[in-house]
Amino acid sequence: MAVSTECRRNFMPFEVSAQFLSDKCQEYRIGCEGVAADRSGFSLDSHFRTPEESAQSRSSTKMKPEVEYLPDSSVDDALDHDLRSLLATCFTKPEDAVFRHRRYFEEPYPNRWVIRDGRGAIVAHIGGHEKHVEVNGQSYRVGGIGDVCVHPDHRGKGSVRTMLECVHGWLSGHGFVFAVLFGDPRVYGSSGYVEVSNLYYGGGKEGWKQVDGLVKELSEIAWPGGEVRLPGPKF
Ligand SMILES: CC(C)(COP(=O)(O)OP(=O)(O)OC[C@H]1O[C@@H](n2cnc3c(N)ncnc32)[C@H](O)[C@@H]1OP(=O)(O)O)[C@@H](O)C(=O)NCCC(=O)NCCS
Repeated sequence: MAVSTECRRNFMPFEVSAQFLSDKCQEYRIGCEGVAADRSGFSLDSHFRTPEESAQSRSSTKMKPEVEYLPDSSVDDALDHDLRSLLATCFTKPEDAVFRHRRYFEEPYPNRWVIRDGRGAIVAHIGGHEKHVEVNGQSYRVGGIGDVCVHPDHRGKGSVRTMLECVHGWLSGHGFVFAVLFGDPRVYGSSGYVEVSNLYYGGGKEGWKQVDGLVKELSEIAWPGGEVRLPGPKF
C-alpha cells in the first residue's frame, strides 16, 4: 500500500520503546499501514502559533514518533485505564467527566491511534469511528475522527499531524473516501481539512441538524454538494 510505505519511511521510533512497539506492531498488525467540538475548556487563542512558528515546528519535527494502531477489541483493563487517564487529563469540561468511567465521549469506536513516550505511556490519541454519509441517494464511507488529544506535557510537537497522516493512510486503505471531524480549523488545516457547511447529523426522532464540519477528501471523490446526512451523533 503506497501510503503505508510513505508513512513507515517517515518514522523513527523512540529508541527506548522500539522493541516494544515492534512487538505491538506484530501483535496488532499496526503502525502506519494502515472534534469534536471544543470540549477542552482551554482557549485556543492563548496557544496560537504564527506561520513562522508553525514552519519552525514542522522543520524541527525531524524525528517523528511511531504511531500505534489499536483496535478497540485489543483494549484490556490496563490499557482502558491508561486511555481514560489521558482523555480525562486532556478534556476538562464538566461533560468530559464521562472519561473517568469510559474511553469514549458518546459512542464507542472500533479504531484508535496513539503515540507513546519513551517509557511506553500513551501521550497522544485519536479515535476513529466507521461512519457513512448519504446524499442524493448515494452513500459514502466516512472515517469519523474524535477524541483528538495530546498530553499537556507533549503538545506543540506535531503529534496531531503525525497521527493523522497514519489515520488517513489507514482509512483510504480500508475504503473510506472522506475523513470528517468537528474541531478547530487551525488545528486541522495543515492536515488537509476544509470547512463545510452542508453537513447534517442526527436523523431519527430528533430530525437532522446542520453542523459545521471539517472534511478531508481521501480519494479522487470530491465532497458532494447538497444536504449531506451523517446518521447518528456528532463525535
Ligand atoms: C488540540 C491539541 C490536540 C493540539 O495538540 P498539539 O500537540 O499541540 O498538536 P500539533 O503540534 O500536532 O499541532 C497541529 C496544529 O494545530 C495547531 N494548534 C495546536 N494547538 C493550537 C491552539 N491551541 N490554537 C491554535 N492552533 C493550535 C498547531 O499550530 C498546528 O498547526 P500547524 O500544523 O499549522 O503548525 C491539544 O492541545 C489538546 O489535546 N487539547 C485538549 C483536547 C482538545 O481540545 N482536543 C480537540 C481539539 S479541536
